[in-house]
Amino acid sequence: MIKPESIENLKSIVDIVDVVGNYVQLKKQGSNYTALCPFHSEKTPSFIVSPAKQIYHCFGCGASGDAIKFVMDIEKLSYPEALEKLASMYNFKLEYSKSSSFVRTDVLEKVNSFYIQELYKNKTAYEYLKTRGIKDSTIEKFALGYAPDSKKQFQFFKNANLNIKELKDLGVLSENGEYPRLIERITFPIFSPSGKIIAMGGRTISNHPAKYINFTNTKIFNKSKTFYGLNFSREHILRKKQAIIVEGYMDVIMLHQAGYNTAIATLGTALTQEHLPQLQKLSSKILLSYDSDNAGINAALKASKLLFKNFFEGGVILFPQGLDPADVVKNGDDLNIYFEKAIPFLDFIISYTIQKYDIKNPVQKKAAVDELKEYIFTLPEIIRESFIIKASQFLQINPKLLSVRSSGQSVSSQNKRIEVAEASIIKTLYENPHIMDEIVEYLSTDVFKTHQKELKLVYEEKFDDPELLDIVLREDILCLDMEALKKQIIKLLIPYYQNKILKLKTSNLPTDEKMHKLKILNYKVLQLKKGELVESDSTV
Ligand code: UTP
Ligand code: MN
Repeated sequence: MIKPESIENLKSIVDIVDVVGNYVQLKKQGSNYTALCPFHSEKTPSFIVSPAKQIYHCFGCGASGDAIKFVMDIEKLSYPEALEKLASMYNFKLEYSKSSSFVRTDVLEKVNSFYIQELYKNKTAYEYLKTRGIKDSTIEKFALGYAPDSKKQFQFFKNANLNIKELKDLGVLSENGEYPRLIERITFPIFSPSGKIIAMGGRTISNHPAKYINFTNTKIFNKSKTFYGLNFSREHILRKKQAIIVEGYMDVIMLHQAGYNTAIATLGTALTQEHLPQLQKLSSKILLSYDSDNAGINAALKASKLLFKNFFEGGVILFPQGLDPADVVKNGDDLNIYFEKAIPFLDFIISYTIQKYDIKNPVQKKAAVDELKEYIFTLPEIIRESFIIKASQFLQINPKLLSVRSSGQSVSSQNKRIEVAEASIIKTLYENPHIMDEIVEYLSTDVFKTHQKELKLVYEEKFDDPELLDIVLREDILCLDMEALKKQIIKLLIPYYQNKILKLKTSNLPTDEKMHKLKILNYKVLQLKKGELVESDSTV
């Protein structure tokens, strides 16, 4: 947290005319300044800046506020990020209260400087970057370094007086503190949107089986929300209204080096719902530019589905078989040729879903239709129509065959509710491990739909597993008290047992056995509906 008095001190030195003047051409008019409004397009100026009041206001679109608000809106930054940006404009040193990320990123900054020095001391490492086609200026811009052997690193931590516990908390050291996470690897610092180091990744240069290693999630780093390169790209993305999403560090770096400065990457994970708020803030077109292998195409299909249903515009770029954007840049090809041929999400989703089937065969054609319908069902009503029309053209079938009935509640919002319920149960168990023994009796892992794996991880007490941390660190997920926990579990158990009943009814078990099991299951549902937890047993 930035100290409130520090914010006040910063505010007292910031001048709105200076700040706004960095972004738009101001013209003096009486005691105020006027300009063309940067927040909407106009031909005659209706935007004014008042030095006396230290505010801006647009009579055209109504935008108004102080210097901080201006930086937030024009740079699409959060409040603290805007403060950091302003502080750096004025060379002002913000003060943070104790639990702050400042102390923390400061440590990462020191570790990174050490890695940078090591890069220039290690000929093999430096040469490696050269053979990958990376220029010195690019090495410098991305602050690439080299993590030497463990012994050297501990020596440095000791000399620099760095605290072992803090190094563990930041992800520099393994959980047990015994070894640095990155050893004998090229290092890639990962920056927050405002340019602070929040984590690191590393690539082996000695054929270690794990080609890349990233820090696990920490208090200041959530890999499912972060984009690598966004600190360098944001400004360009906002201006060009285009972002290129790639798979890896090297792709981002090579694209930037070749002038494609809107490239960003997810960090070894697929694009997920959690990434979307960041992208929405950029309000730009998205070009997915993944590796052109099966894994890449599947990832592009999943990401396209997610983006399309969340109203993003854009498409997928396909490179020749086996290449990724970094390879294409290194080959010296002009990427614009590929960008121009981007396949819009809608077309990509349909054609790549259908491609998996031989639609000349009626059985397979039906399977393709079913797969599309499953997706159509999750689409918001407003874009369903266009999807159905396009898909029916592709398949040459009557659009009616693709229409799905709407239920009161859409599958996606229902799924979302279940997902949140599961996540909050997991978080609660994680925070209160002493109640686990009891809960295990009632809640078997197969009850969960989305987070089965993570529930298993909690039960196995693998508390530092990154996938588990992904949930535990989520801010939208609340910890429950015992009463609420019980209610949530019951809510999930009722449909779970009801489903079992349904399956049992249509099974071909001997009648006696069937009746016996039905009785048990019906009794369980009854108890649950009364608000009583029931023990799970594997015999039904
Ligand atoms: P790639 O294997 O496509 O990376 O993985 P790359 O940049 O093309 O690799 P090289 O250096 O050119 O050979 C894409 C991303 O997936 C994550 C990393 O974040 C990487 O940037 N990844 C990959 C891992 O986390 N671990 C791995 O072992 C491999
Ligand atoms: Mn790749």
